[in-house]
Amino acid sequence: MIAWIPCLLLLVGSALASHIQYRYDTNDSDPFVGGGSDQGWQIMPEVGGATSYPQWPLDPKGRAKLPVYQTTGLVESEITRAVIVLPGKPRDCWYYWVIMNNALVKANAQNSSIDPSQISIMAPCFWTELDVQAGAAQSDVLVFGLTTWIDGKENVGPSTISKYSSFRVLDDLIAYYMDRIRYPNLNTVVLAGHSAGGQMVQRYAGLRRANVDDDRLHFWVANPGSLMWLSPDRPYPNASCEGIDDYKYGLAGNFPWYGRGLDRDSITPLYNQRIINYAWGTADNGPGDTRCEAETQGSTHLTRGQNFVQMINSTFGWPANATVDWVLGVSHDNVGMMESDDGIDKASVW
Ligand SMILES: *[C@@H]1O[C@H](CO)[C@@H](O)[C@H](O)[C@H]1NC(C)=O
Ligand SMILES: *[C@@H]1O[C@H](CO)[C@@H](O)[C@H](O)[C@H]1NC(C)=O
Ligand SMILES: *[C@@H]1O[C@H](CO)[C@@H](O)[C@H](O)[C@H]1NC(C)=O
Ligand SMILES: *[C@@H]1O[C@H](CO)[C@@H](O)[C@H](O)[C@H]1NC(C)=O
Ligand SMILES: *[C@@H]1O[C@H](CO)[C@@H](O)[C@H](O)[C@H]1NC(C)=O
Repeated sequence: MIAWIPCLLLLVGSALASHIQYRYDTNDSDPFVGGGSDQGWQIMPEVGGATSYPQWPLDPKGRAKLPVYQTTGLVESEITRAVIVLPGKPRDCWYYWVIMNNALVKANAQNSSIDPSQISIMAPCFWTELDVQAGAAQSDVLVFGLTTWIDGKENVGPSTISKYSSFRVLDDLIAYYMDRIRYPNLNTVVLAGHSAGGQMVQRYAGLRRANVDDDRLHFWVANPGSLMWLSPDRPYPNASCEGIDDYKYGLAGNFPWYGRGLDRDSITPLYNQRIINYAWGTADNGPGDTRCEAETQGSTHLTRGQNFVQMINSTFGWPANATVDWVLGVSHDNVGMMESDDGIDKASVW
């Protein structure tokens, strides 16, 4: 009795402190970090409102580690929603935590029922050898190829861990939030990504195995540079473009280790049951990926999106669990997409 009173006070104290920490009035900018995506990032910067975990343990034994940012000071039992936001191609995970948090602050300002103390944002960092050399990555965290983390390839380091797909990392982070003992009131995990992050979300939605938690898992795919096409045909076929239907552009084969044993017939029915919210900016007229495989899908981000939506609709019928937002006037703009009414709705409400 006497022993646990101070303990209780401590708990109450830390819960109060955590509520005080939350800042409802911010619009933070991209923190300065030395180095860059080409030279390697030098540090994981401090981000107001988030805690950086340079070595977040992924598997139960804590052997595999990945850096993440996570909202600071929330009470786990009060959290109803988690948003795992993926970085863009520059691997600038800190910025994506900041943008998603800014969008949440805006959401709360517009709709006070959206309570930021109930929404945990996590931004994982997929480092490469460059980031180990430059200093941001500690030597024993998982590292990946420069862009191959985007489509689910295996880690390239550390040497003690093999075949750890970036998609397995997503499995681990989603499972962390889906744990009903840790998060008894969590209803929804949103896996969100823009551009390269949007590509990662879309392909992961295809290769992830069916799981009891899938009814609480939402995918937000915004402005992806190219898509994992579901049907073998393409809007702009090109006979001299080899492997147009191979993964990562299609489903004929060439899957990474994570997708071993899968094929089109096993992937498409599950993919089309998933709760996938697509979003394209109607001014996203950039070509993005200019490889011939991507060109067969359309000439810009937007036209690839339009063609993809049409392909799903005509091949399978529009899936009951999928939505598309055409975000008026927004270009290839992570902030514009996440802070749009539709972006806010899909991250914080849907
Ligand atoms: C936050 O700042 C960015 C960049 O200055 C701006 O584009 C965005 O609209 C701002 N958001 C809010 C909610 O004020
Ligand atoms: C929609 O998603 C729910 C939850 O995962 C699932 O039970 C249901 O079967 C899906 N509906 C369709 C038509 O795929
Ligand atoms: C078709 O693919 C070939 C091989 O990559 C490429 O040289 C050619 O430009 C492509 N044609 C079109 C119309 O994109
Ligand atoms: C799918 O096609 C139907 C029939 O043409 C159309 O009404 C619907 O809007 C389409 N869905 C999407 C998401 O484009
Ligand atoms: C405001 O947020 C609540 C809680 O998420 C939601 O149920 C409601 O639909 C939102 N209202 C609008 C107009 O988005």
